[in-house]
Amino acid sequence: LFAGPVDFVKGVVAMSGLPPADRVEICFAGRSNVGKSSLINALTGRKSLARASNTPGRTQELNFFALGEDRYMVDLPGYGYANAPLAVVEKWQKLLKSYLSGRQTLRRAFVLIDSRHGVKSVDDEIMNLLDKSAVTFQVVMTKADKVSKAELAANFEQVKGALKKHPAAYPEVVLTSSEKGDGIETLRAIIAGLI
Ligand code: GTP
Ligand code: MG
Repeated sequence: LFAGPVDFVKGVVAMSGLPPADRVEICFAGRSNVGKSSLINALTGRKSLARASNTPGRTQELNFFALGEDRYMVDLPGYGYANAPLAVVEKWQKLLKSYLSGRQTLRRAFVLIDSRHGVKSVDDEIMNLLDKSAVTFQVVMTKADKVSKAELAANFEQVKGALKKHPAAYPEVVLTSSEKGDGIETLRAIIAGLI
């Protein structure tokens, strides 16, 4: 699936702009700067398909990518702190929530958690929204290269514990590093297996 072309379809700024709900969709959600866009680049093997940057709030639209003929992969704006005007941030946060709770073809949301930080209260809020909307979500821990093995193990346990109270959580947590490539093949296989 990931060996074929991946095309940018469109950047969406309002629910009315969503492409037709005619295929399996997966999305990447998470706090600003957690590594959503970098993960899409690692998965597709394309350095700058999705724009990544060290400034939180880089992605400000719902960016749709066509993966093969029958899947959309969506890079979402982050939640939590962002380096952008408040009015703008509020607008995209509202859109993000509408999308996560109201997209019929959304097959699985990947919720990204920074390996250094574990699950924070903003993450918990998004997970509550996904529970309420009955959208199955799976946690992907990012930036595993930035922590020691001991810290990674401790935060992995924290994440597993935090997921217990979320009925929509898929139990398997994937550890990744977009920088080093860890976990990327595993995640590709998970995505390819969703139908
Ligand atoms: P927003 O669009 O602002 O919400 O951010 P994002 O979640 O898309 O994060 P992005 O992919 O832009 O990455 C943020 C920063 O983290 C960039 O400087 C990346 O290079 C860095 N980064 C992302 N993934 C990794 C990783 O696995 N390891 C390391 N060391 N750095 C990473
Ligand atoms: Mg981004």
